[in-house]
Amino acid sequence: MKSKLGYPVKFKKAKLPSKKKLIGKYCNLEPINIRKHSISLYKNFSLDKKNTIWNYLPYGPFKSYGSFKKWLKSFCLNKDPFFYAIYSKKYDQYCGMASYLRITPEHGSIEVGHINYSPILQNTELKLKKLLDLPKNYKVLFLQGGAVTQNFMVPMNLLDRRTASYVISGYWSKRTFSDAQAFSGINIAASSESINFTKAPKIDSWEYKKDDAYIHFCLNETVHGVEYFDDPNIKNVPIVCDMSSTILSRPIDVSSYGVIYAGAQKNIGPAGLTVLIVRDDLLDFADKKTPSTLSWKIQSENNSMINTPSLYGIYIAGLVLDWLLQRGGLDSIEKINLKKSNYLYDFIDSTDFYINNVDKINRSRMNVAFNIYNDELTSEFLVGAEKNGLFGLKGHRIIGGLRASIYNAMPFEGLVALVDYMKEFKNTH
Ligand SMILES: Cc1ncc(COP(=O)(O)O)c(C=O)c1O
Repeated sequence: MKSKLGYPVKFKKAKLPSKKKLIGKYCNLEPINIRKHSISLYKNFSLDKKNTIWNYLPYGPFKSYGSFKKWLKSFCLNKDPFFYAIYSKKYDQYCGMASYLRITPEHGSIEVGHINYSPILQNTELKLKKLLDLPKNYKVLFLQGGAVTQNFMVPMNLLDRRTASYVISGYWSKRTFSDAQAFSGINIAASSESINFTKAPKIDSWEYKKDDAYIHFCLNETVHGVEYFDDPNIKNVPIVCDMSSTILSRPIDVSSYGVIYAGAQKNIGPAGLTVLIVRDDLLDFADKKTPSTLSWKIQSENNSMINTPSLYGIYIAGLVLDWLLQRGGLDSIEKINLKKSNYLYDFIDSTDFYINNVDKINRSRMNVAFNIYNDELTSEFLVGAEKNGLFGLKGHRIIGGLRASIYNAMPFEGLVALVDYMKEFKNTH
């Protein structure tokens, strides 16, 4: 038997795990009936001795159902949305014979020709616009280099020999400020470093100049677990915001911002893609020496295709955005995220064993950083957590302690499992 592309196709009858078993307790998605949908999918999955499929693109192969389940329960990045992407009909209808995503019947995401990119980009862009209710005067760019690359792209594209003010509310915004030191005229608008970033500087306390080129801040500090929940109401100076770890977790008023950027790897899609949203009147300030790939304006004029975009990431991001739209968009994901984070914070507050030091008005809904009062128990907590199938709970190396990153992908059941374990650990120590 030969595929359309002429590759020989081996058809292997696979024993599929039951839907319940495959999805596991901690994943709330519905897979399609794999058996019904073409042999090509089997090529993406490895079969174990019992003929069971464990390999899940792009994370596989998993050696066992246990390791697959481990992955589902880790408190880190996107899981469910990718799972959905791979199992959704959308993926499957394009699935050809090659062992990677098929984007058209002829092309996979890795091989597709430059000219064919634009429908994929447009598609993802349209969904993002819908989810964020993007005003017409904003452009979406699909860039590379991660959020940190914007630390120098922002001044290159916006500073224009003026000054800018930076709010420092945690590890990431401090790093952004420090990277911007390569440019002149970079000032601090406010900083909460003296209180160990336990509270974000209030928006009305920010000090900036009327003629600043921009004010930079980070909406959610991933390491310290500190989040702003108000959109800044500052009209005279454009606001540039790093939303890497909170974008798409709740509705925001895009018109409050001049520039929004985010590394995709939390709530958007695979690492490597950076999404930037820019108000079109801010495209004219780039330093003349800005190279084309780093110029928002040139990227915008070329629909993010001044060089080869990270198509795979953009395509998967589109599927993740579908996942969000199908769950009722940002209003509905916000309710789930609130329920999840409240569940954990309420438990922490109810004990004298665990502690979260962040001011209640700034407690992040995406990253709950917490400690055990007796810090010596932290390592033991982590070892026990892994034995209970709870992974990725170690705090960032900068501050230590513990952290549960509970992005859109983490279902409520994951929080129940975590709190159950925390209760048990507390009762036995
Ligand atoms: C708020 C924030 N900004 C920036 C970054 C850096 O992102 P990247 O690794 O994509 O450069 C991260 C990564 O975790 C982040 O959480």
